[in-house]
Amino acid sequence: MNESKIYIIDFGSQYTHLIGQKIRLLGVYTEIIYPDDFNSNPDKYSDGCGYILSGGPKSVLSTDSPDIDLDILISYNKPVLGICYGHQLIAYKLGGKVIKGESGEYGPTLFNTSFSSKLFDNIPKKFRVWMSHWDTVINPPEGFRVIGNTEYTKVAAMEHVKYPIASIQFHPEVKHTDYGIEILKNFIMHYTKCNRGWRPTRVIDNVKKELEKLKVDKVLVGVSGGIDSTVTAVILRNILGDDKVFPIFIDTGLLRIGDREWTINLFSRLGFKNFIFIDKSNYFLSKLNRVSSPEAKRRIFADTYIKVFEEIASGLEKLHGNFRFLAQGTLYPDRIESGAASRYADKIKSHHNVAIYGKHRFILIEPLKDLYKNEVRMLARELGLPEELYYRHPFPGPGLAIRIIGPISKKKLNILRMADKIVEEEMIKSGLYKESWQAFPVLLSLKSVGIKGDERSYEYMIALRIVESEDAMTASYMKIDWNILDKISRRILNEVKGVNRVLYDISNKPPATIEFE
Ligand code: XMP
Repeated sequence: MNESKIYIIDFGSQYTHLIGQKIRLLGVYTEIIYPDDFNSNPDKYSDGCGYILSGGPKSVLSTDSPDIDLDILISYNKPVLGICYGHQLIAYKLGGKVIKGESGEYGPTLFNTSFSSKLFDNIPKKFRVWMSHWDTVINPPEGFRVIGNTEYTKVAAMEHVKYPIASIQFHPEVKHTDYGIEILKNFIMHYTKCNRGWRPTRVIDNVKKELEKLKVDKVLVGVSGGIDSTVTAVILRNILGDDKVFPIFIDTGLLRIGDREWTINLFSRLGFKNFIFIDKSNYFLSKLNRVSSPEAKRRIFADTYIKVFEEIASGLEKLHGNFRFLAQGTLYPDRIESGAASRYADKIKSHHNVAIYGKHRFILIEPLKDLYKNEVRMLARELGLPEELYYRHPFPGPGLAIRIIGPISKKKLNILRMADKIVEEEMIKSGLYKESWQAFPVLLSLKSVGIKGDERSYEYMIALRIVESEDAMTASYMKIDWNILDKISRRILNEVKGVNRVLYDISNKPPATIEFE
């Protein structure tokens, strides 16, 4: 992708993507790979201008912990930075001493570096870092010197005296570590020779090359009114021209109030000549009616979605000739997550766009497949797209289907839509919409007893999910003002027929996910 890139070897930390994003913000392209990728074909990855070994949940002392051929990596004579598990792995494999800690070290800790190291250039000698570890390095390997410690960890940072290898026990990528960005920047500036010219707009050149290589004559683009698919359509139009790009917006019957109008209006403002809107709500609902398993909903949605595209393509072919290409706004984390799901983790959920890989007649074009959400937002700005688009909350492809727990029905969809409108209005009114990553109601197919007027009621419960996040890989529930919650709850209970109880979800991701299904 880029002549100057840092490979991040992912040992399973929930923060690995944050390392990638932070390094990219510093202007160096990153790619996440797994230890097995490296071990099975190290030469393929010898072109990095630097390597970062991420954190991970395992202990280097256990027999089934993920491993990397460190001798080969070091033989490339390129800079290496170990973080948390990466720090312990370097220490352990090169002959240092790692022991099982008697008590772990979690959360904010004071880090002390009274040692002169380029890694901590222009940073105070004591600062707050974020720790999350059980094992501890007590002796560095030969050739390494200690460059930082904490009250409980003697070797909280170390570096090789001759080679550009350094490692730290704490996580510089999380916002709770002071000077984390500066530490990553010091690694890039003082250890590596990486070129800091990476910008998200660089993907446009690569897309151009890919379209030429595939001889793309025209393309259907699945659009939803969200930022990812809109940016995808605009990039393709800029390269291929308006005549060749057919943005397709399908009403799946699983949209929120206003989604249809918003998207039609957006594409009319953007002036796409070949924009097509099609109402397939009855078709989707006939397939999904009464389906209750989360994975079944996702699978049926993905299959129906691609079938509709095949029908649309056949219809258009009478006028325009063969359609071979379908573009969608898949991002980098979507792909990495689906890879991770198959190899290292349980399958958590099949994101609908990833779920359609390989089961249809189209060649997929995914211009944003190497980008993070924050980079897509930067790109949207550069492309001059309307401001409201940057702040619009993400909305999952399977839509309200995965916000009704249990069987789907038209009645439940209507209840959920009305509640959703209220949540959105109140979030905007309170100014919290832009600060939150997502805010939405979920209809639990459970009923509970209440009183309305003087009468007993037996009606549904709504759970509110309002989260803050940087990239949806991790999220925390928003500690929202009670008065706003109170307003939302009162309005739902007064205005939405069929609901007599509102709950607030106070779970973070992990262990919960953002969506309920
Ligand atoms: P979870 O629930 O996995 O969601 O924490 C992470 C982010 O992804 C969105 N999401 C989806 N987006 N198709 C999409 O386009 C999907 O199938 C899908 N499932 C979840 C979710 O809204 C959140 O922003």
